Amino acid sequence: DNRPRVLSGIQPTAGSFHLGNYLGAVRQWQQLQETHDAFYMVVDLHAITIPQDPATLRQSSRLAVAQLLAAGLDPERCTLFLQSHVPEHTQLAWVMNCLTGFGEASRMTQFKDKSAKQGAEGTTVGLFTYPILQVADILLYQADQVPVGEDQRQHVELTRDVAARFNHRFGESFTLPAPYILKDTAKIYDLQDPSSKMSKSASSEKGIVWLLDEPKKTAKKIKSAVTDTESEIRYDPEKKPGVSNLLSLCATLTGSTVADLEKSYEGKGYGALKTDLAEVVTEWVAPFRAKALEYLDDPAALDAVLARGAEKARAVAGETLARAYDRVGF
Ligand code: ADP
Ligand code: NA
Repeated sequence: DNRPRVLSGIQPTAGSFHLGNYLGAVRQWQQLQETHDAFYMVVDLHAITIPQDPATLRQSSRLAVAQLLAAGLDPERCTLFLQSHVPEHTQLAWVMNCLTGFGEASRMTQFKDKSAKQGAEGTTVGLFTYPILQVADILLYQADQVPVGEDQRQHVELTRDVAARFNHRFGESFTLPAPYILKDTAKIYDLQDPSSKMSKSASSEKGIVWLLDEPKKTAKKIKSAVTDTESEIRYDPEKKPGVSNLLSLCATLTGSTVADLEKSYEGKGYGALKTDLAEVVTEWVAPFRAKALEYLDDPAALDAVLARGAEKARAVAGETLARAYDRVGF
């Protein structure tokens, strides 16, 4: 396979993915598997940087995999695996820990944000070194591109710096990856508070669309989305964030442009847009949900997918690790 290689990870979710996760990340993964040699993992090692209940974590990982499969990730077209199934991640991470400066790691803004929330006693060393595990995640597969949100750009920069350092000290060993920044146009906002993004940690229950919810419940949420006191259906994220969010949701899901939508809703009210969008979303979500539930109902099939994924991943990761260890002097 001489297509450019991509590597991306997603956290296990205690429940369902939301529409923002799908449109902002997972859908692009699905598209990239057609044009790239794609490696996708559920990052359960990263998940334990904050306390996890074992049974919940196990179930969360399965939930994430079932939803990735339901979203169209095809184990025949990409390599899909659980991070903890590939021990090479932690093995290479140790070497990378020893090549990363303490000051350098201290400058990671995501660590600063997350540790501020946890407090000094609640912050683990694992949370601090999490970006360095990410360095190993990426380098193990010699990824050319790393599809990430803007908030992860700094970690890809760190990966480049550490890879260049390794190459300089021990000989050319690692591809320097470039961030592949996921499109901001796919950013989805909270249905009740359209000035902030739809987020599992920050949105209210009425503001977020969970992909595994009953389609009826989802339709109701969309119909009660916050708009404004005018009546014109116009894309203007600044002055009309609610309506604009509904328009871009509709455009992204149907493949039409916002301009075409504006034209087709000329003279119509917000109710018409909401009714149509509720239908578009539930028509998409119903088969997605059915597939995800089907995978969850068949643990043996899910295990087989993961075993095969781990085998494919280890074939690449094992080779990279062996060479790196050899160069280091092990
Ligand atoms: P959350 O913000 O809900 O905790 P995560 O941080 O787990 O979600 O994000 C998982 C992926 O989904 C990331 O790639 C992130 O960029 C994307 N994502 C999350 N929320 C949104 C959103 N509202 N719109 C678009 N993409 C999003
Ligand atoms: Na987030």
